Formats: sequence, structure tokens, C-alpha cells
Amino acid sequence: MMKGKWAAVLVTVMVAVLLAAGGLFLGGCAGPRTQPETRITAEIDPGEEDAAVWGRYYPRQYASYLKNREMSPTVYGGSVPDSKLDQKPYLRILFAGYGFGEDYNEDRGHIYSVEDTREIKRITPKSVASCWNCKTPTAPKKIAKEGVAFYSRPFSEVDKDVKHPITCWDCHDPKTMQLRVTRQNMINAFQRQGKDVNASSLQEMRTYVCAQCHNEYYFKTDTKEVTNPWDRGFTVQDIEEYFNTANFADWVHPLSGANMIKIQHPEFELFTGSVHQSAGVSCADCHMPYIREGVEKYSSHWWTSPLKTLNESCKACHRQSTEWLRERVLAVQHKTNNLLDIAGEEIVRAIRVIEEAAKAQGANQDKLKEARQLHRKAQIYWDWVAAENSMGFHNGPVAMHTLGLAVNAARDAQISAMDAMGRVFIPPTVKHTGRTEEDAGKVVKQGEAGSIPKQ
Ligand code: HEC
Ligand code: HEC
Ligand code: HEC
Ligand code: HEC
Repeated sequence: MMKGKWAAVLVTVMVAVLLAAGGLFLGGCAGPRTQPETRITAEIDPGEEDAAVWGRYYPRQYASYLKNREMSPTVYGGSVPDSKLDQKPYLRILFAGYGFGEDYNEDRGHIYSVEDTREIKRITPKSVASCWNCKTPTAPKKIAKEGVAFYSRPFSEVDKDVKHPITCWDCHDPKTMQLRVTRQNMINAFQRQGKDVNASSLQEMRTYVCAQCHNEYYFKTDTKEVTNPWDRGFTVQDIEEYFNTANFADWVHPLSGANMIKIQHPEFELFTGSVHQSAGVSCADCHMPYIREGVEKYSSHWWTSPLKTLNESCKACHRQSTEWLRERVLAVQHKTNNLLDIAGEEIVRAIRVIEEAAKAQGANQDKLKEARQLHRKAQIYWDWVAAENSMGFHNGPVAMHTLGLAVNAARDAQISAMDAMGRVFIPPTVKHTGRTEEDAGKVVKQGEAGSIPKQ
């Protein structure tokens, strides 16, 4: 039946044209893609840390790994170790009394992880071995042997055994080259939910190998064990509740007297729930794009800003021009950076008013306590975006929402502190009318049932 066959061809062509015309051609985004073949050419010693040894067998991946030495900036990221404190002077007030107020640099390539850890002024004779956890394969190997006792050992004592920065061993099983999570903090966090992280699908592992270090964590008070606060979920609200319930503080702010939390680098958490993550895209899709050299195809091991590799990083899925893609990234980043500074400055203002209230004669102590709690809250929300390394890109809407909540909490802190002093401008209690997700759900249901929802 010629006619039927031609009709089928026509439909196929039409579908292809429609997909291409859609702007995005999302071939194989969420599904399996053709992976480069992993030819196991050698049996590497199970404890081998030296990337150069692995590199003898996997020269292409190794050559791209060596590119991690390169340093060049992008507008908000890149790998020049600039001081964040010089870029945003208000940080010195937000982090007063804490190490980050003295030395806080931009991150750079994996190859520098040991060097940068040794040089940062935040590391003092009091620092513990926990700080090595995400910087060198030596740490998880020692944790496997010594258990929880490792974390509280002096930093300097472990230092003499550290030779290699982040290396192949951290993400690959040397025998099979399969991806693996080596960091105990993540293995444990998943175990607490009854899950074995290393039994995840390949596409999940392409995110989890990064998530084991690019996450929010804290050191447990007694053991200094590196711990991910994920028991309630991955949102900033979940993490805040976790820390409040645990009554945990990293330090007491010397100006406001609030119990503070330092957020680390929640790339994994912010990314979770984003457009890309929910569409099945992994960290490796953008940060480790496939490179073709002749007939060979391999994964780039140059972990850097995708703005330097838009062609390889985005155009496996997107049909738009690299100019358009760059503009989309920057549009999110400019807006995020602007609101980040507004939120940061509102928190500085809150700190100043609380400082004054704390010194005032006969200040209402309950109101003062409330103001300090709001300072803690505002700064957790601000830092969720500030400490995250993509300047909002990994999840634009959530970054903006979080900063909006930070501004709100900082203003509420100012009002409570003014109130504590019985000073002017006590605004009337305003009942927020913003709909919750739950309410919105009800309205949709009513709408579906054909009735007009009452406001
Ligand atoms: C859809 C593509 C995409 C995905 C998926 C993605 N990123 Fe990114 N990432 C970016 C872009 C774009 C930037 C901004 C780079 C810049 O500002 O120069 C960025 C920035 C970063 C940075 C800072 C880089 C620098 O130059 O300072 C880190 C670290 C990072 N991402 C880690 C991750 C991790 C970990 C994941 C997974 C949890 C992830 N990314 C998922 C696109 C992506
Ligand atoms: C931060 C984690 C990480 C580190 C460190 C790492 N890799 Fe990979 N590697 C990956 C990911 C993710 C893939 C993609 C796996 C997949 O999709 O099957 C990969 C893939 C590979 C493959 C399979 C072929 C390919 O190119 O996709 C080889 C071989 C490889 N890596 C070698 C190395 C070598 C050699 C080193 C050290 C110089 C190294 N890797 C370090 C994460 C890592
Ligand atoms: C063993 C811990 C560890 C793992 C695993 C890891 N990272 Fe990192 N990553 C770091 C540390 C630490 C730094 C900062 C290094 C510095 O500043 O010296 C960093 C920096 C980066 C940067 C910034 C580089 C720059 O030039 O500014 C990017 C991008 C990045 N990582 C992406 C990834 C991606 C993608 C993965 C997964 C494929 C991953 N990382 C896995 C610990 C890790
Ligand atoms: C593995 C596939 C994949 C890769 C790689 C990828 N994207 Fe996407 N991107 C998607 C999907 C899927 C969507 C959801 C939109 C849709 O389905 O129409 C999306 C949506 C977007 C959007 C619009 C949604 C939003 O959040 O505003 C932007 C902008 C975007 N991507 C930029 C990028 C950039 C920049 C890169 C590279 C750094 C990149 N993407 C890499 C698959 C991908």
C-alpha cells in the first residue's frame, strides 16, 4: 500500500519540522543518550589517587582534566580566586565575628582544591580534619578506616598525608570505571531515608557524583562529623526548620547577638526542583559535555563555567544561538545579583537597629529576641543564594523567591527591633494575603469543577 507508506513518511517529516520549529529540540534530554564507550584498558590499583596514573589509560579525559588549571573569569563566575569581600564590602558586616568575614574567595578549578585549602586564612590551628572531606581523596579513605573519630582530628595532623586534590578516584571505581559516590556524608544522608545512593540510575549518578561535595552541610557539634541537613527535604525552608529544630548555630553575631548559620554551597539543593532538574537534566550534561575528536567522543573533565562552553554544553539540547543562551543566563544573573545586594543591605540595616536596641535602656527583651531570630532567618535566605555558585541560574524563580523572603525577614527584624525600643513607626499588623500553594491547588480544583472561586 504505497499510499499508507507515504502518509507515514509525511507524518514523520511533519513531526520533525514541528519539533525543530519549536525552537528547542530536546532530543534525548531525559532519556538515555549514546554514551561514549568506556573501554576498560587497565586495572588501576583500588587506592590510586594520582590522576596521572589513571591518565595513562584514559588520556583524553586526563588531558581535559588538566585544563582545570586554566583560570579566566566570567561575569559572575569563572575561576579567578577574587575576594568576595572586596566585591561586596557589606559581607564584612554580615559575617562579622566569623572566619568568612576575614577571607572569602571565589572558587576555582578542582586541581587547586588542596592548595586553596592550605592557604585560606579561615583555617586556623583550631581547624578540624572535617575541612579535608571535599578537597582530597585522602579524607574519605581515612574515614573508611577511622570512622567518625577522623573528623575531630586536627586539620594539620592530616595535612602531612594529603598529596592529591580532587581526582578520578573521587567519582570512579577504578576497576569498572562506574560512577560512585565516595563521600560518607551523602551515603549516610540517603541511608537515613532508606536509600542506597550508589544504586541510583546512571542519569542520577551524573548529578550525585557532584552533589556529594556541592551541597549544604554542617559539622555536628560533638563529633565534627560532616552532615547534610536533608532529613526534611532540600528546600531552604526544610533546611531552616532542620537547623531550628536541632537548635544549631555556627556562631553568634557580635553586633546583633543572633545565633547564625553559615550556608555552604547549595548547588545541588537549589538545582533540585529547577526546570532543568525536573526535565531530567544532570550536572554533567552542562558541566561535562561530550567532546568529539575525530571518531572519538568523550566527556569533558574540565569542570568550569558553561558560559565558556555554551556550544558543547547547551546545544546538545537547545537549538538557539549561543548569543541567546548567554543572554538568558545573564538576564537571570543580573537580576539575582541586584536583589542579592538589596537583601544584603537590608540585613545590614537590621543588624544596626538591633545593635542599638540591645544597648537601649529598658528595651523589650521579647521583641529583641524576635528581632534576632528574624536576623538569623533573613541571612539564611540571603546566603542560600549568595553562597550558591551560579548566581541564581541553576533555579531562577526559586533564587528570586528566596531573596524576596530574605528582604521581608530583614524588614520584619528592623520593625521588631524598633518596637523593642518603643520607637516610632510601628506599622499595624498586616495579614499577608499571598496565596499558599495549597490554597492555589484548591482554587484550581474548584475551577475545574466549574464554579467561580470566592476570594
Ligand atoms: C542547564 C545547565 C546547568 C546545569 C544542569 C547545572 N549547571 Fe552549574 N552552572 C551553569 C551555568 C550557566 C553557571 C553560571 C556560570 C557563570 O556564572 O559563569 C553555572 C555555575 C556553576 C558553578 C560555579 C562555576 C563558576 O564558574 O564559578 C558550579 C560550582 C556549578 N555550576 C555546579 C553545578 C552542579 C553541582 C550542578 C548539579 C547539581 C550544576 N551545576 C548543574 C549551568 C548548569
Ligand atoms: C567529579 C567527578 C569525576 C571525576 C573527578 C572524574 N570523572 Fe570521569 N566521568 C565523570 C562523569 C559524570 C562521567 C560520565 C559518565 C557517564 O555518563 O557514563 C565520566 C566519564 C568518564 C569516562 C567514560 C568515557 C567518557 O568520557 O564519558 C572515563 C574513561 C573517565 N571518566 C575517566 C576519568 C579520569 C581518567 C579521571 C581523572 C583524571 C576522571 N574520569 C575523573 C565524573 C568524574
Ligand atoms: C570531592 C569533592 C568534589 C566533587 C566530587 C566535585 N566538586 Fe566541584 N568543586 C569542589 C571544590 C572544593 C571546589 C573549589 C576548588 C577551589 O576553589 O580551590 C570545586 C569547584 C568547582 C567548580 C568551579 C570551578 C571554577 O573554575 O571556578 C565547578 C564548575 C565545579 N566544581 C563543578 C563540579 C561538577 C560539575 C562536579 C560533578 C561532575 C563536581 N564539581 C564534583 C569539590 C568537588
Ligand atoms: C540535556 C538537555 C539540556 C541541556 C544540556 C541544557 N538544557 Fe536548557 N532546557 C532543557 C529543557 C528540557 C528545558 C525545559 C524547557 C522545555 O522543555 O521547553 C530547558 C529550558 C531552558 C531555559 C528556559 C527555562 C528557564 O529556566 O528559564 C533556558 C534559559 C535554558 N534551558 C538555558 C540553558 C543553557 C544556558 C544551557 C547550557 C549551559 C542549557 N539550557 C542546557 C534541556 C537542556
